[in-house]
Amino acid sequence: MSRIFNEAYKAKVMSADDAAALIHNGDNIGFSGFTGAGYPKAVPGALATRIKAAHARGDEFRVGVYTGASTAPELDGALAETGGISFRAPYQSDPIMRNMINKGVSEYSDMHLSHSAIWMRQGFLGHLHVAVIEVTAIKADGTAVPSSSIGNNNVYLDTADKIILEVNEWQSLDLEGMHDVYYGTALPPDRLPIPLTKAADRIGQTTMKIDFDRVIAVVESNAEDRNTPFKPLDEDSRAIAGHLIDFLGGEVTAGRMPTNLLPLQSGVGNIANAVLAGLLESPFENLTSYTEVIQDGMVDLIDSGKVIAASATAFSLSPTAAERMNNHAADYRKSIILRPQEISNHPENIRRLGVVACNGMIEADMYGNVNSTHVMGSKMQNGIGGSGDFTRNAYISCFVTPSTAKHGNISCFVPMVSHHDHTEHDVQVLITERGLADLRGLSPKQRAKSIIENCVHPDYQAALSDYFERASKTANGLQTPHDLREALSWHVRFLETGSMKQ
Ligand code: COA
Repeated sequence: MSRIFNEAYKAKVMSADDAAALIHNGDNIGFSGFTGAGYPKAVPGALATRIKAAHARGDEFRVGVYTGASTAPELDGALAETGGISFRAPYQSDPIMRNMINKGVSEYSDMHLSHSAIWMRQGFLGHLHVAVIEVTAIKADGTAVPSSSIGNNNVYLDTADKIILEVNEWQSLDLEGMHDVYYGTALPPDRLPIPLTKAADRIGQTTMKIDFDRVIAVVESNAEDRNTPFKPLDEDSRAIAGHLIDFLGGEVTAGRMPTNLLPLQSGVGNIANAVLAGLLESPFENLTSYTEVIQDGMVDLIDSGKVIAASATAFSLSPTAAERMNNHAADYRKSIILRPQEISNHPENIRRLGVVACNGMIEADMYGNVNSTHVMGSKMQNGIGGSGDFTRNAYISCFVTPSTAKHGNISCFVPMVSHHDHTEHDVQVLITERGLADLRGLSPKQRAKSIIENCVHPDYQAALSDYFERASKTANGLQTPHDLREALSWHVRFLETGSMKQ
C-alpha cells in the first residue's frame, strides 16, 4: 500500500532514475542519513549510475555531499566509488569514502555535528541545491513522518532549492509519534532558549514540514537500513565498562550524582556499545539517556527497564536489533525520542541536563589531550562527529579505549597526540582495560602520573615514565614538560618499524 496519503504528492511520483536526472554537475546535495539509518536507498544509486555514465563520456560530474553523519554503502560507498564526490561534510565512516578522502579525491570538512546544522542555516557551508530525504510516509496534511533518523533533515528541507522525497515502505509506520521536530530555532540576534529541561521532554511536533512547491520528485522505495553489526564483547571491553560503573557508583556515594545518575551519552564504536552492555549488569535503575545514537546496548537497557527514557537523533542498530525496533516501534516510542541533530547535540541542552559523556578515541597523550579522528597524524578515520559537542559541555566527560591497538604494537597513550580533537581542558576521565584516570582538578604533571599509572599498558609504562622524567629535566619545571625533538618519536618508530615498542 502506498505511504503517500496526500493526493497532490502522488502526482510527483517518479522512478529513482528520473529523479536522479534532476540532479546536476556541481550541485550540493543534502541527504538524510545518520549512522546507517534513514538514508535514501534508491536515488543515490541512480545518481551514481548517472555520474559514471557522464564520466564514461568524458563529462565532468561532481557533487557536494552533506548528510546528518555517516550513512551506508548504498550512499557514501556508491557515490564515493565514482570519484564524483567533490566535497563531503560533516561526518563519514565508510571505507570507500574514507579512502577517497585520504587519496585526495574528495575534500572533507570534518566538523562538530552541532555546527553542521547552524552553519548551513547561517550560510557558512555554501548553497544547497537539492535535499534528498527518506521519510516513512507523507501524511494527508502534507507533512512527512521521518524515518529511522532525523539528523539534518529539517535543515536541508528548509534550505535547499529543490526537494526529492524517498518514501520507504520498509520503515515501520509505528515510528510516527517517536520523533520530536523542534521548529523554534532562529539565527542571532533572534535566538531564544530551547525549552528542554529533561531528556524525555517533547518540545516540537511529530512530523516534518515540507514546502510542496519545492518538491520536484517523490520516489517510492522498500529497502532496509544497512547497519554494521557490533563486534562481540571481549574481556577488555567488559573491564572498561566495569571501571566506568565503579566510577559512577563513586560519584553517587560522594553525593555528586543522583542514584539514577545523570543523562548518559554514549559515542559510536564497539567499545562505547560495550559500555552500555556493561550497564545492564550494573546496580543503577531508572536511567535516562541524552545522546546522539541509539545502539543495540541502549535497546537492551530499555528492554530490561534500566533505561526509562532515551533521546537521540538516530538509530545505529545491528540488523537483528533493527528488525526488533521495526516490529515493536509502537512500544519503543514510549521511551525513545528522535530529535533533529541541532537539538540532540546542542551544547545548551547538554550543559543544562548535565550529561555524562562517554566516547571512544584513537589516542590520548599523557597530559589528557585526545585524538579521535586521525591515525598517525595524517590519515582520517571517521571524524569528530558529536564527540566534541558532548565532551566540551558534559557534566563529566569520559573517553574509553583499549590501552593498545594493532595487536599491542601501538600504545593508545603517547607523549604527544599526533592530532588534537579534544584538549586537556575538556577531557576529565580516561578509561582503559587497565583502569581509570580521574583527571578532574589535576595539573598537567599530576595528570601524566595518573594516566601512566592507571591507563597505560605495562609494555609501555616504563618508556612513557622515562620520557616524562627526561622531558621534565629538559623543561626544568615548566608547566607541561615536553622534549619537542622526541615528542612524536613514538609515531615515527611505528611508521618505520611497525611497532612503538623500543
Ligand atoms: N593508533 C592507530 N590506529 C588506531 C589506534 C591508535 N592509537 N587506536 C585504534 N586504531 C585503529 C584500530 O586498529 C582500527 O583500525 P582498523 O579499522 O584498521 O581495524 C580503527 O582505528 C578503529 O578502532 P576500533 O578499535 O575498531 O575502534 P571503535 O570502533 O571503538 O571506534 C573511534 C573508535 C575513535 C574510531 C570511534 O569512536 C570514532 O570514530 N570516534 C569519533 C566520533 C565520535 O566519537 N562520535 C561520538 C558521537 S556522540
